[in-house]
Amino acid sequence: MKISAHAVGTMLGAWQEGPGPAHQRLSDRLRLLVLDGRLCLGAALPSERDLATALGTSRTTVGAAYRTLVEHGYLATRERARATVRLPHDTPSEPRSGGDPSTIDLSFAAPPAPSESLHAAFATALEQLPRHFGRHGYDRYGTAELREAVAGWYQRRGLPTAPDHIMITNGAQHALGLLARTLLSPRDKVLIDHPTYPHAIRAFTDAGARLLPVAVGPSGWDPVHLLAAGRTAQLAYLIPDFHNPTGMCMPASLRRRLRLACPTIIDETMCDLALDGADPEPFALHVPTAVSVGSVSKSIWGGLRIGWIRAVPSVLERVVQARPATDLGTPVVEQLATAVLLNEHRTQRPDMLRQLRAQRGALMQALTEHLPDVHAPLPAGGVTLWARFPDPISSRLAAIAPDCGVTIAAGPRFGVGGAFERHVRLPYTLPSDRLAEAIRRLARAHLAFRRGATGSHTPAPVA
Ligand SMILES: Cc1ncc(COP(=O)(O)O)c(C=O)c1O
Repeated sequence: MKISAHAVGTMLGAWQEGPGPAHQRLSDRLRLLVLDGRLCLGAALPSERDLATALGTSRTTVGAAYRTLVEHGYLATRERARATVRLPHDTPSEPRSGGDPSTIDLSFAAPPAPSESLHAAFATALEQLPRHFGRHGYDRYGTAELREAVAGWYQRRGLPTAPDHIMITNGAQHALGLLARTLLSPRDKVLIDHPTYPHAIRAFTDAGARLLPVAVGPSGWDPVHLLAAGRTAQLAYLIPDFHNPTGMCMPASLRRRLRLACPTIIDETMCDLALDGADPEPFALHVPTAVSVGSVSKSIWGGLRIGWIRAVPSVLERVVQARPATDLGTPVVEQLATAVLLNEHRTQRPDMLRQLRAQRGALMQALTEHLPDVHAPLPAGGVTLWARFPDPISSRLAAIAPDCGVTIAAGPRFGVGGAFERHVRLPYTLPSDRLAEAIRRLARAHLAFRRGATGSHTPAPVA
């Protein structure tokens, strides 16, 4: 795949910032784009001349940067052909795939399962399973039991919902992928929160869409920009409930008056995780045409792989037509167990919320002690802090951190165009003592970085 000079320039963002000669900064940034997966393996880079023109720099600078990448094994060259992206053979594997098990993983933001209630729900599900044996088991909308239970969950939240407004999916990510493929045409524009959930970015760009990022800044959502972008977008994707990664919650006053001109997907994956205030009102209460995506991954357990779409039946019919291209339904036992858990109101977990509050406090405290220059606003809910470093070092820190025994999700994963190099997402889903140790290790990585260390770890997967 050929990548245009303009596209590389956008991915590079503010590559001129930082110390050292320009060619080194450029090769460093390109290397991080490769490690990050944003420049995919085998991609053919633009010629030195085209990239130099696009970046407004000299051809010598680009030539030197490319040579460094070739020397370190990140680019392959052939005569009269574009240089292509590769990885050096000796790139250390990330801890999850056979590395040091003592590494603390701060790249996943998901709480552990409630073992007793989950176990009991599966026992009940197994008792109920024989009811389904007489049928083929391929149900593209999901089992009646779970569709009813999800509709009941919405009813309890004050949003009248019938089971035929619900389609069960294999997690919220699957729902986003299905909606992207169903609702978008190539080159459509999708309004996204900026930052936002990285795999949603991927779902929309894989469907050929262009992204229209609207900042979620320190004071939250900006209605003026949202409304303006909504007029040119074909679709909007918002996470108003304990937004990933910032943990912010859109105020009720804004939900009530935000009427975007384009169809809107509302991601409610985090809605049961209010840590301080009341539970947020469902967005669709005010915007009945909104398509809601939900999941039990954060409120119960990610391993269930159960999510859903709430939409009018005509939208679900279109989605169900698209579904067989990737899958033919969701496993029945998991659906039955999830229905049991929803009917017992198990997405409300006061114990877990208490624990998350304590862990959030421990993480804030550890940052104050070990990384005092890092600023992290207190999130209203969800499971992550959006921490800001004084300098744009996030990707480079993420590439070094595993050498100090911790993996982190760098800020640019949550944005487009190389934004958020000052940010790191830090989950508080681990026990407090592990979080304190993780931040001590991150502080060591930060020190190593300031002393000139460069890492080569590929980015950890995030959730
Ligand atoms: C905002 C958001 N949407 C979707 C997902 C994916 O959820 P699931 O595990 O249900 O696929 C996540 C997971 O972290 C998330 O944070």
